[in-house]
Amino acid sequence: MTDEQDKKNTPAEERQKEISRRKLLLASMGIGMGIAGLSVLTVAGGLKPKVVVAPDNDPPQKGDLLVFAQGPKQGKVITVDEVPVDKTQIFAWPMDPKDNVIRDKRSLNIILLIRAQEESWFNPEYVRYAHERVVVYSATCTHLCCNVSEFVLKPFSIDKYGYLFCPCHKSHYDPWDGAKVLYGPAPRPLPILPFSINGERQIVAEGAFITYPGCS
Ligand code: FES
Repeated sequence: MTDEQDKKNTPAEERQKEISRRKLLLASMGIGMGIAGLSVLTVAGGLKPKVVVAPDNDPPQKGDLLVFAQGPKQGKVITVDEVPVDKTQIFAWPMDPKDNVIRDKRSLNIILLIRAQEESWFNPEYVRYAHERVVVYSATCTHLCCNVSEFVLKPFSIDKYGYLFCPCHKSHYDPWDGAKVLYGPAPRPLPILPFSINGERQIVAEGAFITYPGCS
């Protein structure tokens, strides 16, 4: 046995050694817990439930028909001839024609249709979205998401050809000019829904709204 091996540690040295041992133990536990935590996260990630979008929650799709959202014809497919001329807008939901699922579980899918008396009412830039003088928009006000529920015509309209009106905070939209905001706090126009008319004169969505519906 050498002198060095034989040499006894002082109490201070023993305490220092004990502290070092504990630090080493804590460090190795930390690494172990980290690995265990990672495993738990990995397992949890693997079990993460998938978000399933039901068809009645989907936004409008190409080929959807539009159905009346209210009134005596609620749920019936809308033909272009049923959109009144120069009166108020009508409200609609998109419907998947394959299984007749109405996409009404997503409130932002609410749609309005309105018809001008004459094509000359339209701003030429937007006339391409109109068929038989009908235009289709999201009915959700871009201010705070109320429904744009009124159409105001002469003599009460400040605009020559009337305006769509949201009664919540009085936003006015021009339906013949891409639903641009004429007055009020709405920050942007109502989104347009492009559509076509099929052989049965039904209104068919040509896809989703061209801008995002809702309030921002
Ligand atoms: S929600 Fe339509 S004007 Fe405020």
